[in-house]
Amino acid sequence: MCGIVGYIGHKQASDIVLNGLEALEYRGYDSAGLVFFDQQNRPELIKQTGRVKNLLPLLDQVNRANQLAIGHTRWATHGLPTSNNAHPHTNNDQTIFVVHNGIIENYLQLKSLLTNQGYTFNSETDSEVIPMLIDYYYKKLKNFDNGLRAALADLKGTYALAIINSQQPDTIYATRLSSPLVIGVGQDEHYLASDPNAILEHTKKVIFLEDYDLAIISKNKIEINNLSKKRRRKIKSELLDYDQEKSELGNYPNFMLKEIFQAPTTIKEACVGRLLADQGLVKLGGLEMVNSQLNYIDRIVIVGCGTSYYAGLVGEYLIEELANIPVEVQLASEFKYRKEPFSRSTVILAISQSGETADTMAALEKVDGYGCLKLGLVNAVGSSIARMTDAGVYCHAGPEKAVASTKAFISQVTILILIALYLSKGNNQDYQALINEIVNLPTKAQAVLDQAANIKKVALKYKDYANFLYIGRGYNYPCALEGALKLKEITYIHAEGYAAGEIKHGPLALIDKSFPTLAIAVNSSPLLNKTISNIEEIKTRGGPIIALATMGNKKLARIVDDVIYLPDALGPTQAILSAICLQLFAYYIAEAKGLNIDQPRNLAKSVTVE
Ligand code: AGP
Ligand code: GLU
Repeated sequence: MCGIVGYIGHKQASDIVLNGLEALEYRGYDSAGLVFFDQQNRPELIKQTGRVKNLLPLLDQVNRANQLAIGHTRWATHGLPTSNNAHPHTNNDQTIFVVHNGIIENYLQLKSLLTNQGYTFNSETDSEVIPMLIDYYYKKLKNFDNGLRAALADLKGTYALAIINSQQPDTIYATRLSSPLVIGVGQDEHYLASDPNAILEHTKKVIFLEDYDLAIISKNKIEINNLSKKRRRKIKSELLDYDQEKSELGNYPNFMLKEIFQAPTTIKEACVGRLLADQGLVKLGGLEMVNSQLNYIDRIVIVGCGTSYYAGLVGEYLIEELANIPVEVQLASEFKYRKEPFSRSTVILAISQSGETADTMAALEKVDGYGCLKLGLVNAVGSSIARMTDAGVYCHAGPEKAVASTKAFISQVTILILIALYLSKGNNQDYQALINEIVNLPTKAQAVLDQAANIKKVALKYKDYANFLYIGRGYNYPCALEGALKLKEITYIHAEGYAAGEIKHGPLALIDKSFPTLAIAVNSSPLLNKTISNIEEIKTRGGPIIALATMGNKKLARIVDDVIYLPDALGPTQAILSAICLQLFAYYIAEAKGLNIDQPRNLAKSVTVE
């Protein structure tokens, strides 16, 4: 969501922080800011709305010789995205500076206590109480370290914090609770970031902070105390074995289009070394490690949010059908707070592109101590969720930069097919056919992409409607949900996804000539005729209909207003082809409306608050 970067050492700190913030910017982009101490140890605080690069003209006006800086890109939770609300925040004396990822849930109460003590607030954020509270306790206890600890004890919510103060211009304090933070270790220098990707180009030697760790970081020393265990923690650094995930636009106008067009490669990358088609084998190294536990499972609970949740719904159909294991898919944000029976023989599978989604992390934390196996299906290598799970499978889809998830969904569903085949141990009549089908899938995905011009033509015809209904059955029901989400996210058009059989139970009331339906009606569905009946029901009520149909299906063309043809495919793989088509459909409407496709309003790429 938002990003934190810090540096202390012998290089120009503000430049390093600025670069790091740019690397994280696609995740949260409503405002940015940084603070550093100049050579006279005077603080220089710079913040601005919009992109990180907007800080540059302001930086050019000040003396940039500095060796310590902290910075932030914000995704506003409390208070509009204005420069006043941007981080860093400071106390009234401007001696303490804080950048914060997360939410302080008791900020109103703290704000009123501090206001009564004479503090004046300049922003609408929850975060501003932090420097004020530290100031309050610092003045009371006459010691910064103790003041900071007392302030942290009062905070309720989630946070990753970087804090500096003018009494100690050579020190960065860092702490976290349910929000990631990592220290990078260099030669007489230290880095700090909410995501290692922001600092990987400088160092791969890192220390991941744990909840309640308070790190005191100077050029050549780090001390970490765990405030909940009330003791100094042994510092264990690790060497990351991956490189910074870089992604260039190339000839594409934006990342979303590029990422949609990466679908064939994404499918191939998901299968490399895993799908041994000639031997009829699926080999998932991450799951082999826990095979003995997998032999005894009686249920899988999949958790995720947004697109990852919808991929999970496809996974439910897949794993139940192919491996005959009961699956339940839950929204991570609901699962966390639900009381339900949960046995040790249940496996929890967390799906996440970013690996940093707070709701999904909270769902995993909930089952801590249940003794059940925790699996991850994650794209971002080394991310929090990848580290919180016992085993799992990486997507290897490469960085996904557009806020609207596209290639991650393609990859997640591809891997869920592999997982279902793996768990089936070959005991399924469709096993070999499906393996052969996955081999052909990149070519079929390309065939969908090759029709981009046609999909665009249909999209442009419908771009001015204010509402859409997306319907499908079986594997294509979650695809309908995902297609509707894509449309909402990047075009701001209202869209509802429904199981086709469900529309007569309510949504049909919405249908008239101003309410088009996008119906996924492909041959691979054994329920195609039932979907066609649902289409007829809509037609009868005057609703315009676009159908996604299998090439050669002439019957549908006679019933509906527009048809987009997809290659024929087996059921589970068909979902991937439908998804690509729906991604392009949403994309071309957003393009025609001239919207900011990669960074739609109000959203962020990595949602690190609950
Ligand atoms: C997808 O287009 C969304 N931007 C969003 O729903 C996303 O899928 C969700 O926030 C989950 O993210 P994750 O996969 O990184 O956990
Ligand atoms: N809650 C804080 C704010 O609204 C931090 C948001 C963030 O994590 O970027 O400023």
